[in-house]
Amino acid sequence: MSLWDPQSLRAATRGLTRVPIRAHGVSIDSRSIRTGQLFIALVGENGDGHAHVAAALARGAAGAVVHRLPDDVADDAPLLQVEDTFQALHDMARYARARFTGRLVAVTGSVGKTTTKEMLRMILSAQGKTWAAEASHNNHWGVPLTLARMPPDADYAVVEIGMNHAGEIAPLARLAQPHVAVVTNVASAHIGHLGSIEAIADEKVSIAEGLEPGGVLLLPVDSDQFARMAAASGATVQSVGVGAADHRLLSVQLHADGSDVQASIGGVHLSFTLGTPGRHMATNAVTALAAATALGADPAQGALALEMFRPGAGRGLRRDIDVAGGSAILLDESYNASSAAVRAALAVLALTSAVRRLAVLGDMLELGDAGPAEHLGLAAAVLESADLVFTCGPLMHGLYAAIPPTRRGAHAEGSAQLAPIIAAALRPGDAVLVKGSLGSRMKLVVDAIEVAASDVTKDKV
Ligand SMILES: Nc1ncnc2c1ncn2[C@@H]1O[C@H](COP(=O)(O)OP(=O)(O)OP(=O)(O)O)[C@@H](O)[C@H]1O
Ligand SMILES: [Mg+2]
Repeated sequence: MSLWDPQSLRAATRGLTRVPIRAHGVSIDSRSIRTGQLFIALVGENGDGHAHVAAALARGAAGAVVHRLPDDVADDAPLLQVEDTFQALHDMARYARARFTGRLVAVTGSVGKTTTKEMLRMILSAQGKTWAAEASHNNHWGVPLTLARMPPDADYAVVEIGMNHAGEIAPLARLAQPHVAVVTNVASAHIGHLGSIEAIADEKVSIAEGLEPGGVLLLPVDSDQFARMAAASGATVQSVGVGAADHRLLSVQLHADGSDVQASIGGVHLSFTLGTPGRHMATNAVTALAAATALGADPAQGALALEMFRPGAGRGLRRDIDVAGGSAILLDESYNASSAAVRAALAVLALTSAVRRLAVLGDMLELGDAGPAEHLGLAAAVLESADLVFTCGPLMHGLYAAIPPTRRGAHAEGSAQLAPIIAAALRPGDAVLVKGSLGSRMKLVVDAIEVAASDVTKDKV
């Protein structure tokens, strides 16, 4: 059975086609498209997909959804002509959601959405056919794409919903129609666009607007915005967290490579090992188990699956790397940063046994007027966890200047300038944490460390 056959494509989009199209996948990126997938030619900031239809077809696309005929494509090519391709993507998402017979959970929150989604994938995959996006596809195209790719016969689906601005979550939630909606937490990420923590809470809780009748909303009880969100939601609320009545984190023993967690999930007592370190990860695990349980899965079986959980690259992945004369530990947190996430990552650095602990921090973005204070506010946490601090970016310069000179490693304008400094500074026995917003491009530092490590390996051979 194909994911999209000619009948379902016509019914979903009302598009016109000369050649029947049958696709087993959907893509909006001609560069990564695979044989048999349907290419949707979106028009956006990164250009016009119509210019890449020929390339997509040449790479084996089963067809392309277009709203104008590209000059460089033959008349008899498998094209589905619609009025607007972005609308067509949404139409396909709506159709895919309507035909889906499984149970769907949607995850939003300031931090930990992708991590919670990946934990849910592990928990649910052990109990049924499970669908979740590969990446952090949580925006105006990511959510509909996730739905348009969703196999109709999956038992469970996990959808991540994010926002940068007010008003973005509710329409995406209505598209996803979750049986269970989750707010992982509420923190200052994106406060530059939203203005206040209350405004962020109001935006997060609007995920409840998409809930199916009888649906359940999981809210973080340890947030000072819990009562506000519960009151505003108009939904059946279950609480999650240390002080929760419904899904409770009872205790956690933190180790450098994971945690032993005790929790009460829907009244069921669980004691399990989580395969990744940090208190924040234990919280995410309890949230994921709570959501899986609300969805109808078995919490005890779910908890067993989490022993094998590892975060993705850039989200806390821990690696041993070679440095001249020995090895060091790299904590790759280069994918994203907000105050809450930096504090969580610093706590993991503090847990890591090492001769020297190095924190390499790039700017946290989208904080608006709150930016300078949010960066300075990290000083105590940084000094508690790191022996040496390296920074880049104008906001992090404020933090760098505020710490004692003996704890300063170096400051550079950007991550490209900082990268070689870090690669040269690493010594055997170090643990190095690399963290910053995606826009601060801290991945360059991770890459430089890896190149240096592979040079060392080559020298050994
Ligand atoms: N519960 C948590 N509390 C604090 N920090 C967290 C928590 N969960 C994850 N993090 C941190 O936040 C970073 C981003 O995690 P993740 O990718 O799961 O979040 P996200 O909400 O999906 O982010 P995005 O908005 O970029 O999609 C991780 O590197 C991790 O350090
Ligand atoms: Mg994400």
